[in-house]
Amino acid sequence: MDTAAQTRVLDEAVYQYSTLTAADQLERLTKVVSSGALGAIAGDHVREFEQQVAGYLGRQGAVATSSASAALELLLRCLSQREAAERVVVPEVCWISVPTAVLRSGRTPVIAPATSDLTPHWEQIEPLLDERTTVVILAHLRGRPAPDTQRITDELAQRGVTLIEDCAQGWGTTLDKQPVGGRGVAAVFSTETHKLVATGEGGIIATDDSHLLDGLRAVGGNTRIALPENAGGRGNDRMSEITAASALPQLTHLNALRQTLRPLQDKLIGLLQDVPEVRSVLPTAIGKSPNLDAEESNGSLVGVWLPTPGHANRVADHLFRLGVRHWWPGPGDPHLAMNWPGTPSTASLVDMACYLDIQVPVLDESRHPAFLDLIRSALRLDNHGSESA
Ligand SMILES: Cc1ncc(COP(=O)(O)O)c(C=O)c1O
Repeated sequence: MDTAAQTRVLDEAVYQYSTLTAADQLERLTKVVSSGALGAIAGDHVREFEQQVAGYLGRQGAVATSSASAALELLLRCLSQREAAERVVVPEVCWISVPTAVLRSGRTPVIAPATSDLTPHWEQIEPLLDERTTVVILAHLRGRPAPDTQRITDELAQRGVTLIEDCAQGWGTTLDKQPVGGRGVAAVFSTETHKLVATGEGGIIATDDSHLLDGLRAVGGNTRIALPENAGGRGNDRMSEITAASALPQLTHLNALRQTLRPLQDKLIGLLQDVPEVRSVLPTAIGKSPNLDAEESNGSLVGVWLPTPGHANRVADHLFRLGVRHWWPGPGDPHLAMNWPGTPSTASLVDMACYLDIQVPVLDESRHPAFLDLIRSALRLDNHGSESA
C-alpha cells in the first residue's frame, strides 16, 4: 500500500476524544450560556462535577480548579508546613509546573529517578527521605498506574509522610481494578486539552480530609467559607461553570471510551512486541505483569523502549510525517527534570530519549488493519538509514 493510501486511515481516526461527547456537552453548554451563569461560586455544574469525581474515586469530596497546576499549588498552600525547610519528593518525569508548585510553596523539590515504567519505585524514593521530607508526589503517567503505588502508600503512611497522587494523565487508569487517585492524602487530575476528560484547561483535587476540603475551597476562592487561620490570603483557583459543563459528559463516557480504545491498544501491543528493535512495550499484554497490565491502563497509549535515542528520534520523525499522534521526550521536553530550572539534577536510571509512545485513536474496527500497517511502516527502523545516536 502506498503512503497516501495508508495515511487516509487517519482521516477517520478520532484523536481528540472529547469530540465523541460533543452533542451532550453542547446541550449542557447551551443551558449554561443561555442562563448567563458562566461562572458561580459553588455553581451547579461545578458542584456536580466535584461530586461525580469524588464518587468515581470513592473519595469524601473534591474541589474543581482552573488547572492541575493551580490545584497542586493550592493543595501545597493548604497543607500545613511543619518545618521551615521542608522537602518534597517529585518524580523525575511529570511536568514542569509540579516542581514549580513546590518551590512556590516555599519548599524544596527533591527528584526521584524514573525506572523503565517512567515512575520511581519505593527503592528510588526511600533513600531521599529524611526528617525534612513531608510530602511525596507520585505521578501516574501515560494512562498507566505507577506500579509500586501500594507499597509507596503503605511505607509513607508508616512514616507520617503525605502522599499526593498526580493523576493529571490518569483519567480512566486503574490499579488493582480501582481508579488511581484513591490512595494518597489527596489526588490531582487535569482536564487540559490532551487528557481523557478535556475542557481546554481545568483541574480537580480529591481527598477524604474534610478539613482540607474546606481549606481548599476557602483559599481557592469560595468566599462563603471562612478562611482557616494562617491561610495567608484567598486567591482564585475556581473552575468555571462552562468548564464543568463540558467535563461532565466526558466523565460519564470515560468507561465506554476505555472499552472502545482497548481492542486497538491490544493489537498495537501485539504488533510492537514482535518488532526486533523494540526492547519492551508498555503496558504489557494482558496477564503478563500485574501492575503494568493493559487491563489497568486507560487504553489511550502504547509505549516502547528503543535501543538508542537515534532509533527513537527516527521513529518519532516518521510518525510525525505520517500524522500519527505520539510523544517522544526529546531534548528540552518540559516533562523531564533535566529541563526544570532551579531544580537540583538527579542521576537518571533510564535515558528517556529512548522512549516513545503512540496514541490509540478511536477508529472503526474495519480500519484497524490499515492503522497497524501504518505503524508497522513507521517502525521499519533498518530502512531509515544508519544508526547515528
Ligand atoms: C503529570 C502532569 N502533572 C501536572 C500537569 C499539569 O496539568 P495542567 O496542564 O492542568 O496544569 C500535567 C500536564 O500535562 C502533567 O502531565
